[in-house]
Amino acid sequence: MEFSAIVESRHSVRQFETGVSIDDAELEAIFADVVLSPSSFNMQHWQFVVVRDDTRKQQLRGLSFGQAQVEQCAAAILVCGRLDAHVDAARIYGGEPAEVRDKYVPMIEGVYRDQPVLQREEAIRSGALAAMSLMYAAKNRGWDTGPMIGFDAAKVAAMLELGDNIVPVMLVVLGRAAGGQQPARGYRRPLSEVLHYERYQGRGSA
Ligand SMILES: Cc1cc2nc3c(=O)[nH]c(=O)nc-3n(C[C@H](O)[C@H](O)[C@H](O)COP(=O)(O)O)c2cc1C
Repeated sequence: MEFSAIVESRHSVRQFETGVSIDDAELEAIFADVVLSPSSFNMQHWQFVVVRDDTRKQQLRGLSFGQAQVEQCAAAILVCGRLDAHVDAARIYGGEPAEVRDKYVPMIEGVYRDQPVLQREEAIRSGALAAMSLMYAAKNRGWDTGPMIGFDAAKVAAMLELGDNIVPVMLVVLGRAAGGQQPARGYRRPLSEVLHYERYQGRGSA
C-alpha cells in the first residue's frame, strides 16, 4: 500500500471481528518490517510479547479496565523495552570495521552504565517507535490495530513474566475491524498550533 494511504487508513480500532486468527508466518512478516525501525545507537531496545490464547486474552482484558478489544482481537501484543539493551553493544557492532567498533562499544557502555533514567527513556523511545511501525506494517498487510496504555502495567508485567529488565511500553491490539467500518478521524490540532520554524513560538494561532 502507498504510504500516505496507510497513514490515512490507520485508526485506533476498539471493536474487532471475533474468531479471526493470525498465524506465526503473518506475524513474522509484519515484524520483519517492524525491526527495521530506528533506535539510539542501534540498540533495538524493543521486545514483543504476543498473546493469542483466548483465555489469556480474557485475562489481559481483566487487567485492561475491561476494554473489550483486548479480548476480541486476533492478537494482543505487548510492546516492551529492554533497560539493559546496551550490554549487547559488542555483538551489535561485531560486524562493523574495527575502528567503528572500538569507538562505539565503549562509548555506548559509558553512556548507559548506571544511568537508570536514560535506560528507561531509551527503552520507551525505541519501543514507541517500534509500536508505530507495528501499526503501519500491520495496516500495510490489511490488519487493523489499536494502541493502548489503559492497563495495569505491573499486573500485566507479572502475567507475561517480563522480568526486571523489561518495561511495558504499550499494548497494540491487532485484528480485523468489526463490520469493516473505519471510525471517523478524530480531531487533529492544526499545523499552525504544532509546527514551528527555527524556534518554538508559543502555542501558535489555533
Ligand atoms: C500511548 C497511547 C495509549 C492509548 N491508550 C488507549 C487505550 O487504553 N484505550 C483506547 O481505547 N485507546 C487508546 N489510545 C488510542 C487513542 O485514543 C487514539 O490514538 C487517538 O484518539 C487518535 O485516534 P486515532 O488513533 O484513531 O487516529 C491510545 C493511544 C496511544 C498512542
